[in-house]
Amino acid sequence: MYKIISNNLIKDNVYMLEVEAPLLAHSIKPGEFIIIMVDSMSERIPMAVYDINGDNIIIVYSVSGASTHELKNATSIHSLLGPLGNESSYTFNSELYIDKKVLLLVSGTGIAQVNRISKRLNELEIKNDIYSVDYSIFDDIKMIEKDNLRDLIKEYDSILTVGSFEFMENVVNISKDLNKEVRVSLSPLMLDGIGLCGACRVLINGEIKFACTDGPEFDGTKVDFDSAKKRMELFKTEEGRRYLREVEGNTFTGGRA
Ligand SMILES: Cc1cc2nc3c(=O)[nH]c(=O)nc-3n(C[C@H](O)[C@H](O)[C@H](O)COP(=O)(O)OP(=O)(O)OC[C@H]3O[C@@H](n4cnc5c(N)ncnc54)[C@H](O)[C@@H]3O)c2cc1C
Ligand code: FES
Repeated sequence: MYKIISNNLIKDNVYMLEVEAPLLAHSIKPGEFIIIMVDSMSERIPMAVYDINGDNIIIVYSVSGASTHELKNATSIHSLLGPLGNESSYTFNSELYIDKKVLLLVSGTGIAQVNRISKRLNELEIKNDIYSVDYSIFDDIKMIEKDNLRDLIKEYDSILTVGSFEFMENVVNISKDLNKEVRVSLSPLMLDGIGLCGACRVLINGEIKFACTDGPEFDGTKVDFDSAKKRMELFKTEEGRRYLREVEGNTFTGGRA
């Protein structure tokens, strides 16, 4: 059982949750994520860690359905699973970005996934800016309108984008056109987050990868967005999932389940 320190509304339907979790707080790296269960029968909720405060982790989440509604009303947390996924390549391979200017371009709660990356880059004195598209949870985050993305992207060497699938595909297309390095976080594909459901299977440069275990961050120019979108649609129904299991066989979950 994990103690909740605070769980407050910060804007519209977005909450900030601080939980005492010393092991996670001292081990989780920027880009890795966790899975929260409010009680033993709850659904698993994948979440980024927005920040660390001593022995506590801070999560910023929007209330969008049943699980996040339950989280909003939680009095304690049953389990926190993590760290999951892989560290962001911007902090893992930070030496590649020493003389570069990095743009962290987010929509919605995407800010939660890039905040610790930005803080680490600041510690390493690597130039970086966070921009949020059309709407921002925090007043001190710069905003950009969708129509002006191209002009903004032009000013940077490398772009990490986190948001809806359609938003990230648009950012990748603009960046490719401008010959910029672009990376994406494929968290929107994920369901269970631990490599067992098969939901986040995606083709990267023609190779099968799983966003939860091989990502969440990938080279945006290598992602097959069209096949991922088709697969996401099929995955929504029982019949679609049966069809995928039939045609993908053992690779449906990478042979894990
Ligand atoms: C690695 C990872 C990190 C995440 N970090 C955060 C975070 O820091 N803050 C935050 O608010 N949310 C985050 N999410 C999304 C969060 O897990 C979902 O919003 C949540 O599971 C929704 O559950 P629900 O039952 O409340 O709503 P549901 O009824 O399951 O979904 C409600 C809405 O949320 C959307 N949604 C569901 N799953 C995802 C997903 N994987 N990614 C994006 N949208 C989704 C659905 O399309 C739907 O519109 C993250 C997801 C992943 C995989
Ligand atoms: S989220 Fe289920 S396999 Fe990756």
